[in-house]
Amino acid sequence: MNILTFQSTEELNEAGAGIIVSLLQTKPDAVLGLATGGTPVGVYEQLVKSYKKGLVSFKKATSFNLDEYVGLPREHEQSYYTYMKENLFNHVDLPAEQIHIPDGNAPDPEAECRQYEEKLAKAKQIDLQILGLGHNGHIGFNEPDHALVSGTHVVKLQEETLRANARYFDSIEEVPKLAITMGVGMILKAKTILLIVRGEDKAKIVHEALTGPIRTELPASLLQTHPNLVVMLDNAASRYF
Ligand code: GLP
Repeated sequence: MNILTFQSTEELNEAGAGIIVSLLQTKPDAVLGLATGGTPVGVYEQLVKSYKKGLVSFKKATSFNLDEYVGLPREHEQSYYTYMKENLFNHVDLPAEQIHIPDGNAPDPEAECRQYEEKLAKAKQIDLQILGLGHNGHIGFNEPDHALVSGTHVVKLQEETLRANARYFDSIEEVPKLAITMGVGMILKAKTILLIVRGEDKAKIVHEALTGPIRTELPASLLQTHPNLVVMLDNAASRYF
C-alpha cells in the first residue's frame, strides 16, 4: 500500500487526476471505475482541465460507476447519473455507449444488478478503481455488516449514510433508502485502487481501515488485502498516520 499525503486539496486533486491521465496516455482503452460523492469532484475538475489542454482523450476508454440510488429519476439533480454528467461526462470525449452506471430506475433492480455484473465481466478487469470513503467505512455503498456481498447488489442504506448524504437533499426523508452498488469482490478485482480521503472527520476511520483488523464491519479494511492500493490523503485526513 502506498499512502500519499498532500498539503493542499489542490495538490491532491492534481495528483489524483495525474494518475488517471498517465493511465489513459499509456493505455487509451483503459477501464475506469468511477466514484461519486464530494471527494472526487476536484479530481474530475482537474481531469477536465487536462482534457481541455489536449493532454488526454477518453475516446477509447470505458467507465463503470460504483453505485446509484434506487428510485431517483436519472435526471434528478442528486442522481449519480446527473453528478457524473455534470462533473465529467459532459466535458470530455468519453462516448455515451462506453459509460456504465447502474440504472436505479430499472423495473427489476435485481435483474439490473445481474446485467451490470455481465457488463463488468465482459470488460474483464477495471484498470483503475477510484474510491471515496463513507464515514462509517463504506466503499461504494457496501455498508458495514456481518457479511459482505461480492457482486453487484441492492443495498439498504444505513442511518449514518442517509444522514451523511442528507446534506445534498432538502431533507433526510428525501434521501433514497436503497441503492445499487458494485460489491467488494468486483472492487478488489481492479488492477489498481485509488482511495481518496479528505477531511478531519474521516481521519480516524481511514486510519482504522488501513491499519486495524480486516473485518466486514469496516468494509474499507478489506482494501488492505489489495496488492496495488494507492491512498491519497489531505493533511487533515492523515492525522493518525
Ligand atoms: C457516498 C458514496 C460513496 C462515497 C461516500 C463518501 O455515499 N456512495 O461512493 O465514497 O459516500 O462521500 P463523500 O465523498 O461525499 O464524503
